[in-house]
Amino acid sequence: MVNTYPDVGIQSRMNRIISPKDNRVVMLAIDHPYFQGPTTGLRNMSNTIRTLMPYCDCLMTTRGAVRANIAPGDLGSKPVMLRVSGGNSVLFDELSDERITVGIREAVRMDAAGVAVSVFVGSANQQRTILNLTDTINQAEDYGIPVLAVTAVGKDMARDLRYLALASRICQDAGARIVKTYFCEEFSRLVDSVAPTAVVVAGGKYSSPPDALKMAFDSVEAGAVGVDFGRNIFQDENPVGMIKAIGAIVHGNHTVKEAMDIYQECLPRASKLE
Ligand code: 5RP
Repeated sequence: MVNTYPDVGIQSRMNRIISPKDNRVVMLAIDHPYFQGPTTGLRNMSNTIRTLMPYCDCLMTTRGAVRANIAPGDLGSKPVMLRVSGGNSVLFDELSDERITVGIREAVRMDAAGVAVSVFVGSANQQRTILNLTDTINQAEDYGIPVLAVTAVGKDMARDLRYLALASRICQDAGARIVKTYFCEEFSRLVDSVAPTAVVVAGGKYSSPPDALKMAFDSVEAGAVGVDFGRNIFQDENPVGMIKAIGAIVHGNHTVKEAMDIYQECLPRASKLE
């Protein structure tokens, strides 16, 4: 029998991740402990999740973080983008040596809205990580689960348009439904080079509220569907103000100045996350 709705599961999950109302998303990246351990802002993961979950559209995290910190009743209130690649730590220089750590049946069991795999283009483990992505896509698509590909950047790689567009395009060609990459000069050319695949932008190391908000603004202006920021939210002294300000840019098309006003309004009640 011909399946006339082959992509219905994918589309339904994509709609949970990226709002069909405005085709935008504020994804909160809190998957860092999978290789960094208890990093600042994620030491008390349940508190971080409880504090920030109401203001994001989707949580990018790990199986263990969900299991240990989200009560079954709360799971489902926000879609989870489940990280399924890993196997290394900051104690080892070559972070690109990743395998698939979570199977698709587990992702289904957890009702993941999508699964995320890192790809290290140009690294010692380029081929393995691209095949991690293609193998995951081959399995996940069978279950109607979209795959987000993370263009992870090794320390020797330049975060420029040439490199990031190359890595992003490889992810699109592998079949990723969403590409997560870093912001760079002429970012709209990267977005164009993978259109219509959705692009979300990683925040990178903690910078400052105005700089991170400008990056969010420039990303969506260049055509990204949103951001998948982590440290610039959970390591800020005013994490709720920061995520609200990002939401105002991504969903409300606010300027950086308007978003900074929202940030400042929250500052008196702010408390830093452990
Ligand atoms: C690691 C990741 C992280 O989720 C990503 O780096 C986003 O977090 P941040 O905004 O802190 O960079 O995918 O490979």
